[in-house]
Amino acid sequence: MALFEKAPAKINLSLDVLSKRNDGYHNVEMVMTTIDLADRIELYTLKENRIEISLESRYVPSDERNLAYKAAALFKSHYGIRSGVRINIYKSIPVSAGLGGGSADAAAVLRGLNRLWSLNIRTRELADLADALGSDVPFCVHGGTAVARGRGERIEKLPSPPPCWVVLAKPDIGVSTRTIFQRVRLDKLYHPDSSAIIEALYERDFAKLSTNLGNSLEAITSALHPEVSHIKGKMLQNGASAVLMSGSGPTVYGLVQQESKAQRIYNSMRGFCEEVYLVRLIG
Ligand code: C5P
Repeated sequence: MALFEKAPAKINLSLDVLSKRNDGYHNVEMVMTTIDLADRIELYTLKENRIEISLESRYVPSDERNLAYKAAALFKSHYGIRSGVRINIYKSIPVSAGLGGGSADAAAVLRGLNRLWSLNIRTRELADLADALGSDVPFCVHGGTAVARGRGERIEKLPSPPPCWVVLAKPDIGVSTRTIFQRVRLDKLYHPDSSAIIEALYERDFAKLSTNLGNSLEAITSALHPEVSHIKGKMLQNGASAVLMSGSGPTVYGLVQQESKAQRIYNSMRGFCEEVYLVRLIG
């Protein structure tokens, strides 16, 4: 029997780096929301006790280094499952882009295996398990809109943002989250106002949301890859209400309320950047 699970990408409405921890990670405060750009995960039970992954990507390995493989292995050992699983991953989310693609796939595998093997595990418990896989995976297990604290594992659900369009533009470079975090200098860091973003969500105030988008890592990634600032400038010039780099980058997104305007920005960005998407917020 096959089971399908959607693995939506996320964008950061804010990303604040608060302090360095003893375990090498940073304490963060990130408001994130899911968008309707999604990978598709197909799961099949195997009688033999093994995990098979198939995906067509030049950039992602299909062996035990794949985060989806690690998610299945963790799930099986944690719940003592002896059946195996075949996982087909159809990728639409760009890789190393700041959109949480790998985390979304891993989270979808956890949700999907819970259904495939009818274990009825609560989402919160799955999200706690997901913490061992990566800092963005607990959020991706929940999906929707939430603020993530700690190293990303402490999730508090938030209301969805007001409906709007998102134009995403990814420069032709991959960014390693680890490399960007290594360059953080806490005394020089910009801090976005995450509480203003949270208020804007409760108040369903698009203007307030737009003016308060912010990302502590943006200046660091832009210094390494000037393409990020160029794309930001182009999007603003083209009329996006607010523009921000997502995660550790390099993808930049612009928010727009009117569909016609979003389409115009999408068209002009396509002349400037190879990978451009026009999607909606679904969080
Ligand atoms: O948790 P994840 O594997 O996604 O993190 C990748 C890298 O990003 C970590 O090895 C760490 O260097 C850095 N990171 C961090 N603080 C966080 C999340 C990630 O320093 N909260």
